[in-house]
Amino acid sequence: MRLPLPLPALRRLGARSLACRGFSASSSRGQSTAMTKGLILGIYAKEKDADALQFTRAGDTFDKHVSGKLRELLALSGPPLKTGKTRIFYGLHQDFPSVVVTGLGKKTSGIDELENWNEGKENIRVAIAAACRQLQDLEITSVEVDPCGDAQAAAEGAILGLYEFDELKQKKKTVISAQLYGSGDDEAWHKGLVFAKGQNLARYLMESPANEMTPTKFAEKVEQELKKVNNSTTVHIRPKSWIEDQEMGAFLSVAKGSDEPPVFLEIHYKGSPNADDPPVVFVGKGITFDSGGISIKPSANMDLMRADMGGAATICSTIITAATLNLPLNLIGLAPLCENMPSGKANKPGDVVRAKNGKTIQVDNTDAEGRLILSDALCYAHTFNPKVIINAATLTGAMDIALGSAATGVFTNSSWLWTKLFEASTETGDRMWRMPLFEHYTRQIVDCQLADINNIGKYRSGGACTAAAFLKEFVTHSKWAHLDIAGVMTNKDEVPYLKKGMSGRPTRTLVEFLVRMSKDNENSQ
Ligand code: BES
Ligand code: ZN
Ligand code: ZN
Repeated sequence: MRLPLPLPALRRLGARSLACRGFSASSSRGQSTAMTKGLILGIYAKEKDADALQFTRAGDTFDKHVSGKLRELLALSGPPLKTGKTRIFYGLHQDFPSVVVTGLGKKTSGIDELENWNEGKENIRVAIAAACRQLQDLEITSVEVDPCGDAQAAAEGAILGLYEFDELKQKKKTVISAQLYGSGDDEAWHKGLVFAKGQNLARYLMESPANEMTPTKFAEKVEQELKKVNNSTTVHIRPKSWIEDQEMGAFLSVAKGSDEPPVFLEIHYKGSPNADDPPVVFVGKGITFDSGGISIKPSANMDLMRADMGGAATICSTIITAATLNLPLNLIGLAPLCENMPSGKANKPGDVVRAKNGKTIQVDNTDAEGRLILSDALCYAHTFNPKVIINAATLTGAMDIALGSAATGVFTNSSWLWTKLFEASTETGDRMWRMPLFEHYTRQIVDCQLADINNIGKYRSGGACTAAAFLKEFVTHSKWAHLDIAGVMTNKDEVPYLKKGMSGRPTRTLVEFLVRMSKDNENSQ
């Protein structure tokens, strides 16, 4: 069906086209591209007393342009759409052969105090991702997206929902260019693209197989991405000799079990107008493969341990994203990168190693390697006069048992820092939840036969908390947070706008935290 609308009138409907790395960006609205173009429009759930369907502003405008036909078809085609459920209409409009209408839930949805997130934003991400995927499955190559009243959330839904790791497959998913439909929300749309692409970079690093994403390759990829975005950045790819000079004995003890050389990656972004502004220092666990070492893991699902560098991936992606946004902050990222393998040179249960700060550690379980490499990196982090130290690590299976994939566990000695991270997480929907740093747990690791500290707790219970207590032994800074991201490392189907695979969480929350830090900085100057 062709509509009697003249092209200039259709153009007034407007479509903002924004370049988006990884997706082709087309601004052509000519009829030659129209055959493959899709439009996504949101629709709210029916409120109690209302009898009419509640379109978004863009939906309303579009429906007027098609003389109320969309409203008519929606009413005819079935019950009202639930959140994230979609319906597709063909031939409604000559510019958009396919129009997907997607359920946004209640228009009044906002912050949910029990769920600790903004339900309205989350619904938009879910709804837009579902609609984008539907068009992707139909091999439609270009889509315009309704901002749904929050263009950032809409862009995040689109870019996160479409991402798939198919680098190593011969048959690729259809590449879709996602553009904003309508005008006026460009800035928020662009912010959403940048946030989501940051998370997708972390997903890429985590999903890549360990034979491809070695410590060296990881460091080179991060360097390449950082150089693309901003020239106020420095990258140091420190070799084994540097790690030895730094007397990082705990890190080296893990690395020596593998033939793959270790790397200590150090990245700097100087965005603050004040060069001496103390930096936010991030530390990320960078085990590019965790076999468990001599305390070897069971073979089922061991492949997932290619993502045991999720801490390094998320903190590096956070800094790259912050640099892309030109945030006025100084940032440092530190990532000890190596493999944890069994070999004739590997750590053995009962071995004692010495960390950078002189503390000796009895390695009773070689699979508790993350805390070993982080102990040295945390000592090093203190040398930068940091404003804050945040480390992220896929540290314990116990964290997954405790919270599952609902939230990152945050162990922090600062209620100020906790509040900042928590507030950022309610905004992004990639949630955080506070966990304890009680002396109770410290007692279990300092009670050690051969050394100052044991790398595992006396008891199995509270494993995520004893691991955090271990890290605390290497922290003197008063604003430190340890994020245990083991539970949020993968996505099965829990987050509907992420496909199955490595999640890249909590990159967006860390970026949002930095955006808020930079605003606080500006206000206090
Ligand atoms: N990398 C693992 C933790 C992990 C498990 C991350 C599942 C993601 C998903 C870590 O190095 C580890 O093996 N930890 C041990 C500690 C234990 C030996 C005290 C664990 O959790 O079992
Ligand atoms: Zn391990
Ligand atoms: Zn590990």
